[in-house]
Amino acid sequence: METQIFQPNQVQAAADLLRAGQLVAFPTETVYGLGADATNEAAVKQVYAAKGRPSDNPLIVTVTGPDMVAQYAQPLSDQAQRLIAAFWPGSLTIILNLQPGALSKAVTGGLKTAAFRNPKNQTTLNLIAAAGVPLVGPSANTSGKPSPTLAQHVYHDLKGKIAGIVDDGPAAVGVESTILDLTSDVPTILRPGAVTEEQLEAVIGTVRSNHHKVGATEVPKAPGMKYKHYAPDAQVYIVDQASDWPAALAWAQTQANPVGVMAIDSILAANDLPANAEAFSLGADVASASHRLFDGLRHFDLESPVKDILTQGFPAEGLGAAYMNRLNKSAGQVHFKK
Ligand code: TXA
Ligand code: MG
Repeated sequence: METQIFQPNQVQAAADLLRAGQLVAFPTETVYGLGADATNEAAVKQVYAAKGRPSDNPLIVTVTGPDMVAQYAQPLSDQAQRLIAAFWPGSLTIILNLQPGALSKAVTGGLKTAAFRNPKNQTTLNLIAAAGVPLVGPSANTSGKPSPTLAQHVYHDLKGKIAGIVDDGPAAVGVESTILDLTSDVPTILRPGAVTEEQLEAVIGTVRSNHHKVGATEVPKAPGMKYKHYAPDAQVYIVDQASDWPAALAWAQTQANPVGVMAIDSILAANDLPANAEAFSLGADVASASHRLFDGLRHFDLESPVKDILTQGFPAEGLGAAYMNRLNKSAGQVHFKK
């Protein structure tokens, strides 16, 4: 199959493909998503095949707003309404109880709940409106690989497997949405993202966090959390402190192969990089680092292959919680030790 690239002014053609049961990747402010008509079970099943995704891992339902949610979910609680007013469109996904039989098992993985997301990207909101149906929208990468922050990343992973990609340039945030479960007694963060715990608590009071590492035999609340994630071909080492860099770079120098170095500009400027180090700038701070993390991991897979990547850690607070959650998964929790 030929994978067509659509510009933002061509969403009608992309919507026609979606209505015909085809797969089209779409931009969001977090990462690119892989779209299919959420009400077409055969189309949704193809999403799992294209990504190589385990079929017990439920999909996010991407909507134009609360009116579309109301067609599938139980009536919105006061809390849900306040969160939607505060954060939609934006990087907060909420898990709600469904009306019985409202969405197929292919979408929900057999759960009585579904995750709803309203992305802050006008092109994709136009696309969903033109399709007239909600779209399932997992990240548009091959399962296990870093999420795509550019249309080119999607093309690399899924060309020939999907009908189209709507290209709207780089994703602004770069890490996936915060997932908040509103079906438990206390609202629970299942995946940290750009909407932080502090921001959520300012709107609805106490929330809990439950995005610890899940063992292979445990049943996780967000089923996707048990799988290997965001992993480049190289081994990633987290460098926790600015003061660890001299030792980390001295170690790099002893390696026979090139070593990737992902750090912010002030770290890169303050340290002497050995000749076999390949630098990838994470910009100025944790926000630009979150924006560039997946792009950097892919860079060292594709354009500048290395066996080892030293990557800067940040305190796991605010957006740093989302950044460190993704970095820990790509590194398999491996930290550089002196
Ligand atoms: O920013 C995002 O959320 C991106 C963009 C494309 O919208 N999408 C995304 O989807 O990250 P995906 O499928 O890669 O991650 C969704 C996560 C998975 O870990 C899945 O297990 C979890 O959400 N999930 C989906 N439905 C759920 C449910 N009903 N209960 C618990 N977890 C759920
Ligand atoms: Mg994903």
